[in-house]
Amino acid sequence: MSFKKIMAGIGVCSLGFASSAVFSADFNMRLSHGDNESNPTHHAALKFQELVEEYSDGRIEVEIYPSNQLGDEQEVAQSMRRGTIESAIVYTGNLVPLAPSAGVLMLPYAFTSSEEAWPAMDALQEPLNERISKEAGVRAVGLLEKGFRVLTTAEEPVRTLDDLEGQNIRVSPNNIAIETFKAWGIDPTPMAWAEVFSALQQGVIDGQENPYTTAISSNFYEVQDYITEIHYMMWTGPLLVSEQFYQRLPDDLQDAVDRAGVETANYERELSAKLTEEAKNELVDLGMELLGPPEDEAQWQEKAKAIWPEFYEDIGGEEWALEAQRIMDEAINNQ
Ligand code: MLT
Repeated sequence: MSFKKIMAGIGVCSLGFASSAVFSADFNMRLSHGDNESNPTHHAALKFQELVEEYSDGRIEVEIYPSNQLGDEQEVAQSMRRGTIESAIVYTGNLVPLAPSAGVLMLPYAFTSSEEAWPAMDALQEPLNERISKEAGVRAVGLLEKGFRVLTTAEEPVRTLDDLEGQNIRVSPNNIAIETFKAWGIDPTPMAWAEVFSALQQGVIDGQENPYTTAISSNFYEVQDYITEIHYMMWTGPLLVSEQFYQRLPDDLQDAVDRAGVETANYERELSAKLTEEAKNELVDLGMELLGPPEDEAQWQEKAKAIWPEFYEDIGGEEWALEAQRIMDEAINNQ
């Protein structure tokens, strides 16, 4: 059995070496995420740790496990349902197979900017929680955002839809991403996040799509040459708490976790916006060519938006999909 599986299978209380404070806190929260320590996700994890420990007066201790140490994002989401991992930050696309209703955050071209996405996500958080707690036994205490997912490729630049032909692009394993790329004329390769860098390095795939900050933190500039700003989807990711764990907390500690979650999301969104701008310059210095949006962006949008109704069954049904869009549109219009 791998080290990470062993880590996922045992409680941290038996990991005496992990932290001496484990034994003084009333509750221990392991927080898993799939990025490394230079990614905004990890900065968010650190902020959440600081705020939970402060607002709970040390009665909750948070231990962070970056880089998929406790399992890949989908495995971790499953463990949270069972209550064997207490919290995680997971890309929405990796949660959707377990919690379809979260897919409303992923409809292609649903958001045109972070300024739109933030109030929309805030308005959606409570109604979304009612659904994902039933679907997957998790609740989002904050909704994070890292800017648009951009397409990176090696060797062949993608300036138009036609340029996609022949490219083997990895997407996160969810139907929305898969069907969107199919609408653009190619069959993408769904793959777990933990495998992406080596697949790029070995040439198993030609490209992938993730935010600018991830292209830096995951060293994609070593194995990728071009970036196209396809603007189709933002990286949104819930800061999740296992419902089983949450329900074990007394009211005052639930409040502490909720407050820390919202403040962490606000902190992470601002930080990501700043780091995204820095990442663009850094990627150019590191040799990547930034191509900007596709020359025929309107066609990309038209093809992807045309298939929205096909996604409704995958994201909790038409009624929910339309209700979620109404809630988000109202929040955007009222800001
Ligand atoms: C993915 O592409 O699977 C995710 O965006 C990776 C992540 O969580 O950063």
